Amino acid sequence: MAAVLEISGLRKTYRGRRGEVRHALDGFDMRVEAGQVHGFLGPNGSGKTTTLRTLLGLVAPNGGRMAILGQPVPEQLPDVIRRVGAIVESPQFFPHFSATETLSLLARAGGVAPQRVPAVLDLVGLTDRAGDRVRTYSLGMRQRLAVASALLKEPELLILDEPANGLDPAGIREMRTLMRDLVASGTTVVLSSHILGEIQLICDSVTIIARGRRITAGPVAEVMAAHSGGGLRVRLEAVADLPAAETALIRAAETPPAPSAETTPDPSAETPVTVHRQADHLLVHGVDQPAWVTRTLAAADLYVSELSPVTVDLEDVFLELTGGDETGAGR
Ligand SMILES: Nc1ncnc2c1ncn2[C@@H]1O[C@H](COP(=O)(O)OP(=O)(O)O)[C@@H](O)[C@H]1O
Ligand SMILES: [Mg+2]
Repeated sequence: MAAVLEISGLRKTYRGRRGEVRHALDGFDMRVEAGQVHGFLGPNGSGKTTTLRTLLGLVAPNGGRMAILGQPVPEQLPDVIRRVGAIVESPQFFPHFSATETLSLLARAGGVAPQRVPAVLDLVGLTDRAGDRVRTYSLGMRQRLAVASALLKEPELLILDEPANGLDPAGIREMRTLMRDLVASGTTVVLSSHILGEIQLICDSVTIIARGRRITAGPVAEVMAAHSGGGLRVRLEAVADLPAAETALIRAAETPPAPSAETTPDPSAETPVTVHRQADHLLVHGVDQPAWVTRTLAAADLYVSELSPVTVDLEDVFLELTGGDETGAGR
């Protein structure tokens, strides 16, 4: 499938106040396929805005290669930029203008047909309020107006830097609906965020950046699955039995597969069974069939009161991969 966006080995260094070199981007890679909402996720200061500004020719990189819609940039930017809509800095609008006036002005300045204004207002769901002054708009409505302005030229690729920043849950849901509509109409969307929940709610796939480097990428579900390890939480009727249960599970996992397939851990599983004892439960990883846990423990006269998959959300993966790093590239 064609990549709408390709970045490889992107580097950007800044000089700190004492002349020291700071790597905002340190060999960053990213690939976005057509027809999806791609989340660009990373802690504050990890290099998201620098990446997007570099893509749009607003910052000169120190190395690496980039292509938008198959065209190398910044070389082909003058050609390709017509096909890209972007909001990288939060745009300021004249508070006394209505949405219609704002967009008409932008359309005229950008050589866009005036009929496009009601069309984008409709796309972002602002038609009802299009005649009201922008200063009466909620933050969510202003964000949608910003998206509308980026959609005027019918971009194939829409780039939004932290579009959900400051939005309440209802605003984020609106944003999600809008993104889905855009993808359905053939636009590819890249949106950055430092907040997991937003990416999880809105995006199909994700690139996670920390300290100017890609640390993982892929479909949201796959990224989460790859880091969930199929963990199970096991509680027993008696907490005092946890050590015995731990021993029984480890011993059973080490025993060569019994003839009955039902009672063995999945032999194809590459990860060995591991057991971690917590205060009031066990965390068991590497087991393909949860029933194996119940049977193994029952065989040792230990009775399970809860057996549930450990749900991993993107936040856990993010913390695991970034080590909870919020300081970014200050090296
Ligand atoms: N103009 C600049 N001058 C110096 N350092 C910068 C500049 N812009 C960004 N940085 C640094 O580059 C790193 C990445 O910043 P940024 O791309 O804004 O991260 P994010 O958007 O992920 O929060 C940070 O350490 C930031 O301080
Ligand atoms: Mg930023």
